[in-house]
Amino acid sequence: MVILLEENKLISPELEDGQEERLENSLRPKTLDEYIGQVKVKENMKVYIEAAKKRGEPLDHCLFYGPPGLGKTTLSNIISNEMNSNIKITSGPAIEKPGDLAAILTNLSEFDVLFIDEIHRLSKSVEEILYPALEDFTLDIIIGKGPSARSIRLDLPKFTLIGATTKAGSLTTPLRDRFGIVHRLELYSPEELAMIVNRSSKILNVEIDEEAAIEIARRSRGTPRIANRILKRVRDYASVLGDGKVTLKLTKHALNKLEIDELGLDDTDRKLLDMMITQYKGKPVGIETLAVSLGEELDTIEDLYEPYLIQIGFIARTPRGRVPLKPAYDHLGYSYIEK
Ligand code: ADE
Repeated sequence: MVILLEENKLISPELEDGQEERLENSLRPKTLDEYIGQVKVKENMKVYIEAAKKRGEPLDHCLFYGPPGLGKTTLSNIISNEMNSNIKITSGPAIEKPGDLAAILTNLSEFDVLFIDEIHRLSKSVEEILYPALEDFTLDIIIGKGPSARSIRLDLPKFTLIGATTKAGSLTTPLRDRFGIVHRLELYSPEELAMIVNRSSKILNVEIDEEAAIEIARRSRGTPRIANRILKRVRDYASVLGDGKVTLKLTKHALNKLEIDELGLDDTDRKLLDMMITQYKGKPVGIETLAVSLGEELDTIEDLYEPYLIQIGFIARTPRGRVPLKPAYDHLGYSYIEK
């Protein structure tokens, strides 16, 4: 069972109850066997879950990191399912004060999974409450002020924290050290994404040609969330312009309309690359400078755009900044001069 904490306040934004979100949730696999890709993570988690169940203990605390849209939340839901436990979902920015976290922790039941998205955004004072909770399942509360203040220790139910972050490097060392299980989620291969698209089509009751599924997969920048989003838009085109069946021709038409190119790059990707090549002349440029020039948030560039551009060899990170590489010049039709 999924429990969202406190009306709206502590709910992660991607779980708001809109039509699109409901649809997205229906596409999420519910068991590890249904979950496609992330083979290493899956194999390891299967062992840890079975071992914890055998011992009659909660699963050790887990940290999942990697770019957005790769299934960190989905995986956490699956883990709580496989452990036959409840999951409570919140996020770093939603837990403003130590008291917020104390309220969440004291409301947990034995073996619950507490999922904290964007865990790198917890404040220091909140993090400090978390340490003893993770280590000994205790909560230290200070009552009163000044000389008469005293500390009492509460026992908490044994629970599993699952933290998710796009920025593992921003986690403090003491917090990172308290996770017994740490996994990086990787971008998906086109073959895995095609399997996901086929699976989602079945759930959505959409007939899809194999070449169309492969085309969507190729243009989804390694990310299931993007693949499923494209599938939903192509389905719209198929129902309005065709007979509902998703063909390669309709897929290409829809992707053109969405301005998603052959490699899955969108307008912002292309602007970013163009700027690096023309305005900054292919020289190293800081990510902050690029974000300002593009009018985008730094986090958006770092988490959403950069990982895929690095993965396909279009840009490189150097100590002096980001540089565009030859394939980026080729893709945008610029000639590349060896530096
Ligand atoms: N839908 C979104 N992510 C998925 C995954 N990893 N496996 C199966 N279906 C998915």
